[in-house]
Amino acid sequence: MTDESKNMQNHSSFQSRAESLRASHRKWQQSLIEAQEGIAAPQLIVEGHLTRMVGLTLEAVGCHAPVGSRCLVEGPDGKDIEAEVVGFSGEKLFLMPTERMLGIVPNARVIPSKKPYDVAVGKELLGRVLDGAGHPLDGKGPLQTSERVSITSRVINPMARHPISEKLDVGIRAINALLSVGRGQRMGLFAGSGVGKSVLLGMMTKYTDADVIVVGLIGERGREVKEFIDNILGEEGMARAVVVASPADDVPVMRLHGASLATRIAEYFRDQGLNVLLLMDSLTRYAQAQREVALAVGEPPATKGYPPSVFAKIPQLVERAGNGDTGGGSITAFYTVLTEGDDQQDPIADAARAILDGHIVLSRELAEAGHYPAIDVEASISRAMTEITSAEHQAAIRQFKQWYSLYRQHRDLISVGAYQRGTDAKVDEAVTMYPQLTEFLQQSITQSVSLADSIDRLETLQSIEVMSPAHDANLQAPMVQQTLPDKSNSYAK
Ligand SMILES: Nc1ncnc2c1ncn2[C@@H]1O[C@H](COP(=O)(O)OP(=O)(O)OP(=O)(O)O)[C@@H](O)[C@H]1O
Ligand SMILES: [Mg+2]
Repeated sequence: MTDESKNMQNHSSFQSRAESLRASHRKWQQSLIEAQEGIAAPQLIVEGHLTRMVGLTLEAVGCHAPVGSRCLVEGPDGKDIEAEVVGFSGEKLFLMPTERMLGIVPNARVIPSKKPYDVAVGKELLGRVLDGAGHPLDGKGPLQTSERVSITSRVINPMARHPISEKLDVGIRAINALLSVGRGQRMGLFAGSGVGKSVLLGMMTKYTDADVIVVGLIGERGREVKEFIDNILGEEGMARAVVVASPADDVPVMRLHGASLATRIAEYFRDQGLNVLLLMDSLTRYAQAQREVALAVGEPPATKGYPPSVFAKIPQLVERAGNGDTGGGSITAFYTVLTEGDDQQDPIADAARAILDGHIVLSRELAEAGHYPAIDVEASISRAMTEITSAEHQAAIRQFKQWYSLYRQHRDLISVGAYQRGTDAKVDEAVTMYPQLTEFLQQSITQSVSLADSIDRLETLQSIEVMSPAHDANLQAPMVQQTLPDKSNSYAK
């Protein structure tokens, strides 16, 4: 073989080696691209299975899902039941169903759901009644809303919130005049069972000046839902209202979601610059639902069986209401709080009182005497009052409360005839004024009293000159001289 042909052979073998190197390089490149695509592809869902079920708590192993996410548990006839991850311990996940749980079997498949938890919002919600998961309950067909938003809301910087500066007309004389509520204020209605919380809430729903009303009926009687819609809201009220109902027989997770959903809907309308009235009946049932969930996953009970997480959840819910930062919208909220056995020191009542901007206490004694609304003006306060009322208005309230509590302090003596008129001029004044004070505080369910009328009437009471009998013990009948009220309303700010 000549040198030339040797060189030719070397050259061609070099070329074929280079070609095979290029081919293997292409192969590696291709596999790297595939591996990269594999990494970017959605993660595989690792299914688990149920190992235990106690009460409403399910325990699953083998699957990975974060707390707060949802899983589907294989139910009977291929129908999956949705459950929410509420905690974990080691490899075990604790789940609670968000719907009724029937026919679950041991070892049922548990499939983590990747569906985002969002809610339908938009003006199309007005007039609709939803359950705790946001599904329509009113038989008016599916929701056709323009937007969906995440159930979790943004936190408002406390420095950016608008202060409470405007009085709100709630249509109840005793509240308008003596416990002025401001736009964006969060108030509690505290009372034992059957004292009139729901009725008062209903009256405020009808008479309050608001663009949108969001009602959350959480953990209360199912019967009251329809009654509230038909008798209290009516067709006219429903046109500007959204009702979220999760009655007492709903599972606890659903009751918690119901309260969250109602608040989220209210937040949506507030962010549109609207003035929203949010009514929640009741905050106590919300706390009890959280107690059920927390105890079921093994959190230790603290005060009155309520685990610590309950006291963290209440401020988280309540703080979402109030004035907004941008757009000028507001959420004025009323939460009913059941004081078990009329115990004002009930831990939930105590926690709610500490976080809310005021409390209206209803008294069983007044309700039993047929005095409605049974507002105990001595025990109730509105924390925003000083910012939104004039000095004259505050003075008039002080005078009203002084008369009222003086009479009540001496009531026993007066009722047995042991108090002699003329003993104390101030008490004489209180005795004379008392019938008018109680009349002022009472209002029928069907009557609405505007803010201006309420303040006018309070002013009239102040301008009544009580002629003290000047220690004349023989003078039995009180003398009242009424002067015409000044029509220029000096109390209105
Ligand atoms: N303003 C009112 N005028 C006349 N009756 C009233 C008034 N408020 C309440 N009542 C009477 O009291 C009853 C109980 O009221 P309501 O249902 O509002 O109580 P509640 O405090 O919400 O009770 P619960 O805690 O059990 O839900 C009513 O059915 C009604 O008979
Ligand atoms: Mg009630």
